[in-house]
Amino acid sequence: MCQETKNNSLLSELVSNHSINNDTFCMSFKWEGRPPKAGQFFMIKPVRSNVFLPRPISIFEYIPSQNIVKFLIVKVGKGTAELSAIKPGEKVRLSGPFGNSWEDFLPEDVRNSGGKAGLVGGSAGVAPLAALVAEKPELNFYFLAGFKNGFSNNEEETATLGAAVKAKKLILTAEDGRNALHGKVTDYLFDLESYSVILACGSSGMLKSVIKKCETKEIPCFVSMESRMACGVGACYGCTIHTANGTRRLCADGPIFRASDVLFGGAI
Ligand SMILES: Cc1cc2nc3c(=O)[nH]c(=O)nc-3n(C[C@H](O)[C@H](O)[C@H](O)COP(=O)(O)OP(=O)(O)OC[C@H]3O[C@@H](n4cnc5c(N)ncnc54)[C@H](O)[C@@H]3O)c2cc1C
Ligand code: FES
Repeated sequence: MCQETKNNSLLSELVSNHSINNDTFCMSFKWEGRPPKAGQFFMIKPVRSNVFLPRPISIFEYIPSQNIVKFLIVKVGKGTAELSAIKPGEKVRLSGPFGNSWEDFLPEDVRNSGGKAGLVGGSAGVAPLAALVAEKPELNFYFLAGFKNGFSNNEEETATLGAAVKAKKLILTAEDGRNALHGKVTDYLFDLESYSVILACGSSGMLKSVIKKCETKEIPCFVSMESRMACGVGACYGCTIHTANGTRRLCADGPIFRASDVLFGGAI
């Protein structure tokens, strides 16, 4: 059950929590607020928490018929470790959805199912792209999803990911090569000319590599960026990045930007 408060900020109950690999979890929450779009994110914080600020987390899948929103959480520090440890029935505060969505960046031929879009996600960056596939399963998406840690033979692990990733083609990579293609996800990004657009989300190293490949072949590329956030709604300027059009707030002006506009060098 969700308990409504102001500004689309709800107390929401954890319905399930499944591990995908050593450090990655798929968490489902009840969500009865404004429907989120793929590419948007929520600010999330457990009700019982030792961290001060909520953490920005992208939607992984939204199931409107069940009022469920799913997140893919990768443990990197205190906030994500705390989130991944909560148990079904416990509550978090979910605020959102915030930011722009992938739909605005799909070229006409991809919308008409004529053209093919390449989706390149690294680790937690898999989440917003999987949400796009779940939102528009009829479109022609080729998905390259890369993780640091591979998968055990536990069918539940890969099934949890596979259920959400319904792309026409899925290439799963892991740096340790366990039950996935061995290496970095960008090692498997070939035939750029066959794509109408590339959409990418992941570490800045991964994004730079994807952008370079797209520039070489003159393929349009859009990237979902990450930075630390405090308010999530454009008020604190804590998430500002440099772009060719000046400084931009990731939460309010993004998180998705035209790749050629982003000036890498980190948040300011
Ligand atoms: C728009 C947006 C969407 C996101 N979606 C997801 C998602 O779907 N799933 C998910 O697991 N994570 C997502 N993240 C990243 C997530 O918000 C951070 O990993 C989290 O805030 C880290 O908090 P922490 O307390 O666990 O780590 P901290 O203790 O704060 O930091 C631990 C380590 O992680 C690094 N770190 C912290 N924040 C980030 C960040 N934003 N990007 C890269 N490195 C960071 C720190 O430099 C440090 O080395 C998203 C971030 C943004 C901005
Ligand atoms: S997090 Fe406050 S302006 Fe973006």
